Amino acid sequence: MAKNLTPVWNKMAKHAMLPETRHDERARYNFLSNLNKHLAHVSQGNKVAFEKRVEPAFEKEYGRPIKDRHELKEAISKDAHYQIWSSLRRCTMEMRQQAGRSMVLRQAEELAEKARKLNEGKSTLILNPDVEVPAYLMAVDNHLMPGSYHTELIEGDVTPAANYDSGVFVTTAGLLGRYNDGGGKAITSWLKKNHPEFKPKRILDIGCGMGHNVLPIAKAYPDAEIIAIDTGAPMLRYAHARAIDLGIQNVTWIQADAAKTEFEDESFDWIQSTMFLHETGGKSIYTIMEEIYRMLKPGGLTLHIEQPQYTDDMSLFEKFIRDWDAYYNSEPYWSKMHDIDPAELMSESGFRKEDFMQIGAKAENDLVEGGENADEPEDYGRSPIWNVFGAFKK
Ligand SMILES: C[S@@+](CC[C@H](N)C(=O)[O-])C[C@H]1O[C@@H](n2cnc3c(N)ncnc32)[C@H](O)[C@@H]1O
Repeated sequence: MAKNLTPVWNKMAKHAMLPETRHDERARYNFLSNLNKHLAHVSQGNKVAFEKRVEPAFEKEYGRPIKDRHELKEAISKDAHYQIWSSLRRCTMEMRQQAGRSMVLRQAEELAEKARKLNEGKSTLILNPDVEVPAYLMAVDNHLMPGSYHTELIEGDVTPAANYDSGVFVTTAGLLGRYNDGGGKAITSWLKKNHPEFKPKRILDIGCGMGHNVLPIAKAYPDAEIIAIDTGAPMLRYAHARAIDLGIQNVTWIQADAAKTEFEDESFDWIQSTMFLHETGGKSIYTIMEEIYRMLKPGGLTLHIEQPQYTDDMSLFEKFIRDWDAYYNSEPYWSKMHDIDPAELMSESGFRKEDFMQIGAKAENDLVEGGENADEPEDYGRSPIWNVFGAFKK
């Protein structure tokens, strides 16, 4: 592989549910993946713009430093380099969504039929049309994804999941691995290394999407009963069919709202979420954490993989640039979620403050040899370098 190119889409692992791609569709994905990576280099100029132009000009005009990321966003929005980078990044996301959505729409019926055949007669997929998609999800096309996770255009629709599954490669430029499962792999490796004594028998994954990150957990704990929940029926149909095709049978996929499930008190050993909490709106993050506390057995573990929180020791520039998604990538809950203190969030839900833990994790990537190139600049967003927080319940 040429050093400065992203891996090609053809290297992604294949399974029965993956949409068929034509030559031009693959070429478009590969181009967009590389454009995305290139923009990480262009983004380096934003720091220069901040330090050399925006900050000095602000101090000259107001006689004081910029006080927070909101003020910096206002001030830098007039800078030509930032404008170019920001509009290119927005366009790349729009093009990625158009490329994926048009590709899956032309084969919507075939994909629904493939899922129907793989799912038929199985007790491990439980859909419930009475489950309401939360208003905060209905209000948004998450990360510019038309119709978000729940919209169904035909009976048995799986296109939202097929679009997400095939296109997340572009958004991350291949950094999540061949199965987009680098987060699930990283967390199971951490757990096995740091808590070999922990042997969960019943595991719950909330906001499972199409199951990218719960499958490594299912593989690592083959004797455990695993339940994965999501409010989006298209995601679950696709997730179940994909898992069956990949030979993983110890996961039951259930349509349910994480804020009000029907699971019994203290019935899970491990409750996991991956890239989920930042997409929850209003007060639901608190309700969901209370629900987690209720469902977790004493001695049980909960862990949440997210992009880093905006802590006091994070630089003003990093907070500002990480906040870009909130404003221009249809992630309206992102900013508020990354501002909260996760230790407070958990203690308000019943967890003891002294049990709170926070660990770093980087996606395990079997697609890019040796992980990301050493010369790769950090663009604060694309790279899957995460903050994982959680606690053992005492
Ligand atoms: C970014 S995706 C999840 C990705 C997935 N965990 C993974 O690792 O690939 C967020 C998912 O959360 C689901 N979701 C959002 N709010 C939910 C809720 N209250 N209950 C259950 N699922 C929810 C959405 O439908 C969506 O599929």
